[in-house]
Amino acid sequence: MKTITTPAIERVGVVGCGLMGSGIAEICARRGLDTLVFEVDEKALEAGRARIEDSLRRGVARGKLSSPEREAALLGLRFTTDLTDFADRDLAIEAVPEVEELKTRLFAELDGVMRRRDALFASNTSSIPVMQLAAATSRPGQVVGLHFFNPVPVLDLVELIPTLATADAAWERIRHFTEKTLGRHVIVSQDRAGFVVNSLLIPYLLAAVRMYESGFARAVDIDQGMVRGCGHPMGPLALADHIGLDTTLSVAESLYTEFKEPLYAPPPLLCRMVQAGQLGRKSGRGFYEYTVR
Ligand code: CAA
Repeated sequence: MKTITTPAIERVGVVGCGLMGSGIAEICARRGLDTLVFEVDEKALEAGRARIEDSLRRGVARGKLSSPEREAALLGLRFTTDLTDFADRDLAIEAVPEVEELKTRLFAELDGVMRRRDALFASNTSSIPVMQLAAATSRPGQVVGLHFFNPVPVLDLVELIPTLATADAAWERIRHFTEKTLGRHVIVSQDRAGFVVNSLLIPYLLAAVRMYESGFARAVDIDQGMVRGCGHPMGPLALADHIGLDTTLSVAESLYTEFKEPLYAPPPLLCRMVQAGQLGRKSGRGFYEYTVR
């Protein structure tokens, strides 16, 4: 059996506290980690904090954690709008929107801020090449993809993605952290747009949008078909709303850019809905209507 000799990861920084970042921060704090969360301004920070508190409350109500565990998780969480507070972090997990330029700039900034020589840099990207983010830093050997699934506190899968440059020690350390410290199930993917899950999931979601767009069937019938006929927890249009139509679109665009396969080409309706601000559950309207909390 291999012995892990690299130092434990205890101080984590999560960049971005949206749907994914808040879930990632929550599970880190629930596992007893010193968790610092960055957002661009106070408003975004407060929204993120409220999302985490709400999820922890639901977790207690569903019997997934005790009240003292919830209190301990809240105590392990700190929030900042100043990225230089990440200087002492062992690991930064980036979970900002799927905008290539934004992520690339952020990795360069984190590289300048994080002082520990063995610090690790991880991206929750679902589609942008991790190598491109690694190349924005002076320490590409320390960079990996660490892709979670929404809702993060409920779905225990993580895709781990090494790049051509990831150092062996960094890889062992992040894998140990994800499996043992976070207690997640790991699958490994090469650094290709979409990795394993989205390469399979996105063409399915796009096919459902095309079916709806062509008038083939109603949204509710498409979704019920897959829920009742195939045992899926939710139908493809409800799932696209859950992921966010903007995120679904940007993952489809990245897949299309990488592989040029028609099955990855975003249908016009998806593009128009995103342009109209109909982003799914988070905006209150997508293929269905929602109450925004
Ligand atoms: N903390 C911990 N556990 C929680 C919780 C919380 N805040 N909220 C709910 N849970 C638990 C519940 O206790 C329940 O657990 P049990 O099954 O053990 O009882 C479970 O989560 C389901 O919760 P609910 O009963 O409240 O909700 P549901 O049954 O309606 O399921 C759902 C909701 C989990 C979202 C489910 O519909 C589902 O799994 N859908 C598919 C989601 C999916 O495919 N996500 C992946 C998207 S792809 C992606 O994320 C990657 C990308 O890059 C785009």
